[in-house]
Amino acid sequence: MILYFTGTGNSRHVAEKIAEATGDAIENIAVHLRKHDVGSYTSEKPYVFVGPVYAGRFPKVMTKYIEKAQFGGSRQAYFVATCAETPWITAKYTKKLADAKGFDVLGFRSVLMPQSYTTAGMAQPDEVNQKILAKAEVKIEALAKQIAKGIRLQPEPLGKSWMSTIANPLMYATMMGTKKFTVSDACIGCGTCVKNCPLGNIRLVGEKPVWGRDCTQCCACIGSCPVSAIEYGKKTIGKPKYYYGK
Ligand SMILES: Cc1cc2nc3c(=O)[nH]c(=O)nc-3n(C[C@H](O)[C@H](O)[C@H](O)COP(=O)(O)O)c2cc1C
Ligand code: SF4
Ligand code: SF4
Repeated sequence: MILYFTGTGNSRHVAEKIAEATGDAIENIAVHLRKHDVGSYTSEKPYVFVGPVYAGRFPKVMTKYIEKAQFGGSRQAYFVATCAETPWITAKYTKKLADAKGFDVLGFRSVLMPQSYTTAGMAQPDEVNQKILAKAEVKIEALAKQIAKGIRLQPEPLGKSWMSTIANPLMYATMMGTKKFTVSDACIGCGTCVKNCPLGNIRLVGEKPVWGRDCTQCCACIGSCPVSAIEYGKKTIGKPKYYYGK
């Protein structure tokens, strides 16, 4: 059973490649996050959790979801973190989560993917992203094969800890606001931003998006808008906006 959380589609892509190799069922946990409920799962094979790194940990919404969900059958799990630079010490936090759920960790792997943090003005031009994706594909295929065989992976060296320990709570305290989102006249009212928000935090009013307060800065809305009508303050103006496959 493969469970994933994604903002801009990187983790979905990795999860789908693993599902292709393993033949396992796959679920986007946004299905439950949007409804404010939790799933109950059963799997004979190891669980595989795939998600992005946000300031050195899996997103809080994802961790909380796994904490609350019920997992029957296998007591083994893999954790796969997509990130743009370094997972920092995400592996320490996923181990903690696994311990709390009674999972034996068969392996933690990070995969370098394009930078999704558009609201921080950090998304990269398409030509840079294409190179990153080409490299990532090789790693994803090898990893998917290892997971399909149920191999126990060698631990990945840990990065520095300050982002995961000190900056992470600061990010959640200061960077999750939606007041800076604006939409321009270019908006065609297509609803893509509404559909792609994993938390169901956007609705269309008079064919224009309106943001609620339940945001995790996943950047799906701003990244996936087909006409780049969304900005976040001044930081994003004239900058690339990323969404996998767009
Ligand atoms: C709020 C936020 C925080 C991030 N923090 C990190 C980080 O600490 N380290 C890193 O390498 N990438 C970081 N990134 C980049 C994402 O982890 C990376 O682009 C990931 O593949 C996005 O996956 P997704 O498309 O499934 O959402 C961050 C992105 C966002 C939106
Ligand atoms: S409002 Fe936008 S940035 Fe916030 S969670 Fe939804 S899609 Fe992600
Ligand atoms: S995705 Fe863009 S064009 Fe479509 S409704 Fe949202 S802001 Fe408007």
